[in-house]
Amino acid sequence: MLNGEQITIALSKGRILDDTLPLLEFAGITPAEDISKSRKLIFETNHDHVRLVVLRASDVPTYVRFGAADMGVAGKDVLLENGSEGLYEPLDLDIARCRLMTAAKVGAPRSAGGRVRVATKFVSLAKQFYASRGIQADIIKLYGGMELAPLLNLADEIVDIVDTGNTLKANGLEARELICHVSSRLIANSAAMKMKQAAMQALIARLGEAVQNRQQTA
Ligand code: ATP
Ligand code: PRP
Repeated sequence: MLNGEQITIALSKGRILDDTLPLLEFAGITPAEDISKSRKLIFETNHDHVRLVVLRASDVPTYVRFGAADMGVAGKDVLLENGSEGLYEPLDLDIARCRLMTAAKVGAPRSAGGRVRVATKFVSLAKQFYASRGIQADIIKLYGGMELAPLLNLADEIVDIVDTGNTLKANGLEARELICHVSSRLIANSAAMKMKQAAMQALIARLGEAVQNRQQTA
């Protein structure tokens, strides 16, 4: 189905990868070696014209936007935070489902009318969210472990991913407002969608079937 046109697919390493590989397998694409056991970043597949690259989750949209990769898998949180210019988002893969939320110490009141200090790696989304509520927020950029910030009074609140809520609970925090629901999306470079239309559309269709199959057998 993909004959003739080289397709590079950028995958997020970490939690998304484990859920992405079975979808690719259903679509007929398997890595030539075990990704989890290798230090390589580029992987050939069972298909001559398809290769996989494994990146940090937040770098996937950049590789796809610039056409270094034709397609990729990225969390909606990362896409909203970084903008989707130059990207198509043809498929909700319905994996790595979670919520982007504000959170604070259990029972801590929000200072009425005052400024709120917010620690997050989602600087842009946090700015938009607090502005939309008319709340003046000083955003402090962190790169992980946001839950620590309120505990050490670096921030009053955090904006972070919540799934089970266990991390918040373990750190004496509670979720407050929902900013958005998140799942991982298939993204594609706009120019590649035109140049490699047949191969890209075939792959998108197969992945769509893989998502449906996974939903039906879940
Ligand atoms: P980076 O290394 O680029 O900072 P990261 O450490 O956030 O990325 P992961 O933790 O693997 O990478 O998360 C990748 C994506 O998985 C996130 O962008 C989000 O969409 C989703 N995600 C993050 N945490 C959870 C979770 N606890 N449950 C479900 N999905 C999650
Ligand atoms: C993510 C997120 C939360 C946690 C939420 O962190 O940043 O800390 O998962 O999941 P839960 O509600 O099920 O506890 P991750 O495990 O990716 O670690 P990180 O902080 O290094 O990104």
